[in-house]
Amino acid sequence: MNLELRNTMKNKLNKSILISLLGLSSLFLFACPAQQTADKTADSQAASTTPTEALAEAGADGKGVGPIKTVEISAIDPSLVAEGKKTFESKCASCHKFDAKYVGPALKDVTVRRKPEWIMNMILNSTEMVQKDPEAKKLFATFMMAMPNQNMDEKGARAVLEYFRSMDEKK
Ligand code: HEC
Repeated sequence: MNLELRNTMKNKLNKSILISLLGLSSLFLFACPAQQTADKTADSQAASTTPTEALAEAGADGKGVGPIKTVEISAIDPSLVAEGKKTFESKCASCHKFDAKYVGPALKDVTVRRKPEWIMNMILNSTEMVQKDPEAKKLFATFMMAMPNQNMDEKGARAVLEYFRSMDEKK
């Protein structure tokens, strides 16, 4: 009789330990998915902004990566062309021709395949361009060297762009 009572008490004790253990574990079970959901929400929020930012950074608008966001283009300015031609001959012709690949790509029709902003960003910011812009990356993979920074300023780059425009217009 005594033994039986002790056993029942033991059972009850075991049961209550079990129940409180179950209670504890269910706390964890419920706590964890909640945490996961919170993480997921944070993830998807990050995911909904990151690709757009990454694309903008990668120059998906075709303007490239760099200081030039918009370029005003109007009728070709001959004095700007002359200035750009001079710069091209002293700083660029060692690597670029118009009709043939040289150290760098042939530049004929460059103003047709690229936006003016892209061309100026390539001149002013070539190192970052070959790292981030999808088209510049492809060129880098083909030519196996990075176009060195030519220490050009915005005015100089704009003049070279004008020279390229004049070259592409003469066809
Ligand atoms: C030492 C060689 C070198 C010099 C000097 C150089 N470039 Fe380049 N250029 C390259 C290479 C190589 C590429 C291909 C991209 C890369 O790998 O960086 C390139 C790419 C370009 C492109 C992109 C062409 C395309 O098909 O889209 C333009 C535009 C350009 N260069 C303009 C210039 C101008 C303007 C100058 C002078 C201010 C210049 N480069 C000087 C080597 C050179």
